[in-house]
Amino acid sequence: MSSVGIDQISFYTSNYYLDLRTLARAQNTDPEKYYVGIGQEKMGMPAHDEDIVTMAASAAAPLFKSEDSKHISTLLFATETGIDQSKAAGVYVHRLLGLHENCRVVELKQACYSATAAVQMACALVARQPEQTVLVIASDIAKYDLDSPGEATQGCGAVAMLIRANPRIITIDPQVGNYTEDVMDFWRPNYRKTAIVDGKYSTKIYLKSLKRAWEHFRDASSLAFTDLSFFCYHLPFSRMAQKAHRHLSKVNKSPLEVEGIEAQIEGSLLYNKLIGNSYTASLFIGLTSLLENSKNNLSGQRIGFFSYGSGCVAEFFSGTVVDGYEKWLFKELHMAMLDSRSELAYEQYLELYHAPDPRNGESMEITADTKGKFRLANISDHKREYIAL
Ligand code: CAA
Repeated sequence: MSSVGIDQISFYTSNYYLDLRTLARAQNTDPEKYYVGIGQEKMGMPAHDEDIVTMAASAAAPLFKSEDSKHISTLLFATETGIDQSKAAGVYVHRLLGLHENCRVVELKQACYSATAAVQMACALVARQPEQTVLVIASDIAKYDLDSPGEATQGCGAVAMLIRANPRIITIDPQVGNYTEDVMDFWRPNYRKTAIVDGKYSTKIYLKSLKRAWEHFRDASSLAFTDLSFFCYHLPFSRMAQKAHRHLSKVNKSPLEVEGIEAQIEGSLLYNKLIGNSYTASLFIGLTSLLENSKNNLSGQRIGFFSYGSGCVAEFFSGTVVDGYEKWLFKELHMAMLDSRSELAYEQYLELYHAPDPRNGESMEITADTKGKFRLANISDHKREYIAL
């Protein structure tokens, strides 16, 4: 059977960010707590006219510059920032991207994990019908209560991937390790805009799930820990991945020194430090960061992935970077997008944080603000109207 995996990958984040030094100043906290303690520098804040739909469409648009979006057979949309209890956010994206009417669309949810489920399901669909191309999009806005410990770990972003046979970026191995446990470490009831989180507990469950998912992977796969050259972790904040990788390296008695262990993940952390947590998207934005910023050519290198969704479901899986992958990346586009962002003053951050959210069917025109290609133009009669610019 031919290999299956990620053929193209592109991400998007908002054009606004808050520097965590600004947040620290407003909170009377030492900025080093954020820059060093949690390893984050900036957090992306969506513009008034951005949400998971516009970010998703902006992440996916570059994938269709050189090919026809009509070939997509399925769009799998992963998010935990749902905008509707019934309609899949991907259906709006289907129109914005001009996908074919015969393309199926569905939304997946399990906290930050569901993009991994989407990738695995997409691989299974393509394995069954190798001529198909499946579009997987993960898009999220991480929002916590003001003045809560989670506030500094907010962020936003979306990632879009084409899943195909004989992919040009990375093949995904079929063997995976899973771990599921019914725990309350982080959740967001339907009536809340912000997540409820038991922060310290969540970091412990993350590490426990890593060990259990790894043990299951080790039983399922013929690969040893030393067969994996680089690692990408779910990234609520970059220090979490550093702790996780040290933990896994210790469990596996890695022969590497501390610097060698750090080098296996450092490339994957760069974009996350600048955009913050993007929940479902973070693992794959981490992969993009590794591919686009690694000092080494990664062709033929095997990467280990750890996906974690609070609540909780975790998965360890692996993939091998394809020869010539670097020709198919969107590095310049991503760099230009990050460079063109505008810094927010603390008051502007609060203004975006408290963006109005009509709930009673009233009409609201939304000021044009995003530099992205798509925007939420108005909400009226409980309907959201999206436009392409
Ligand atoms: N200089 C340098 N370091 C400093 C410092 C300073 N002045 N002040 C504090 N630090 C260090 C601390 O020593 C600590 O380091 P260690 O973890 O190595 O001990 C680190 O900075 C954080 O400090 P605190 O533990 O005091 O931070 P906190 O309790 O205020 O918040 C947190 C930490 C609980 C993770 C919080 O950010 C949070 O609740 N985040 C949201 C939940 C989350 O992201 N959980 C991750 C696992 S769950 C998941 O992954 C799913 C998801 O996406 C949410």
